[in-house]
Amino acid sequence: MRIGIIGAMNEEIIELKSVMNNIEEECIGNLSFFKGELKGKEVVLVECGIGKVNGAICATFMKSHFNVDMLLFTGVAGGVNPDINIGDIVIATDLVEHDFDTTAFGYELGQIPRMAEYKFKTDETLRDIAYDCAVKAFGEAKVWKGRIVSGDQFIASPDKIKWLKEIFDGYCTEMEGAAVAHVCYTFNLPFLVIRAISDKADDDAKVDYPEFVKLAAKNSKTIIEGILERL
Ligand code: ADE
Repeated sequence: MRIGIIGAMNEEIIELKSVMNNIEEECIGNLSFFKGELKGKEVVLVECGIGKVNGAICATFMKSHFNVDMLLFTGVAGGVNPDINIGDIVIATDLVEHDFDTTAFGYELGQIPRMAEYKFKTDETLRDIAYDCAVKAFGEAKVWKGRIVSGDQFIASPDKIKWLKEIFDGYCTEMEGAAVAHVCYTFNLPFLVIRAISDKADDDAKVDYPEFVKLAAKNSKTIIEGILERL
């Protein structure tokens, strides 16, 4: 079994890379994929870069070139549900591209014309394992299961948070997850997105984000390690 692990930024993968064994680097374009072992499992780790296209490129290569059996995405996100705090964990139940808008043709916001699905569901088994690991590590009050909404936008606005909550019932927002989910849906690849909250996507987001990104990334890494131990 080979497991693909994607993070958008160096901060989000560096901790995992530091505990990998027998690392071999394979470059594709300007991307570095790291093959090796983590918690006794065969993994491929990559920093995909920021945004939906970067996420989709790496997810596609993980499937078509590295032939992974499942994909985990780890990183940070801005809280949308007001009950969720910085440092909390959100395990995605499903993901939607919140910036996909063809409402002019009568589609729902987020809906992708001529596709059967646009609320891309995560793998239930992976989700349950991740939830268990997260609760063990951080306690039930800090762990959430819910929809993650993704778009090519860093959200730092109370109005936009309200909109993401009202329209999509988003729990948190980030910039890659739904694109990775879209690719996994297309290739029928089991996947899970786990995000730790680095900011509350509000007026303070720009200040909170750099302060909390490292802590949040560490929290996310703890869960990935827990999942690998259980697979
Ligand atoms: N990732 C972390 N915080 C975010 C935010 N506020 N908006 C989009 N992506 C994020």
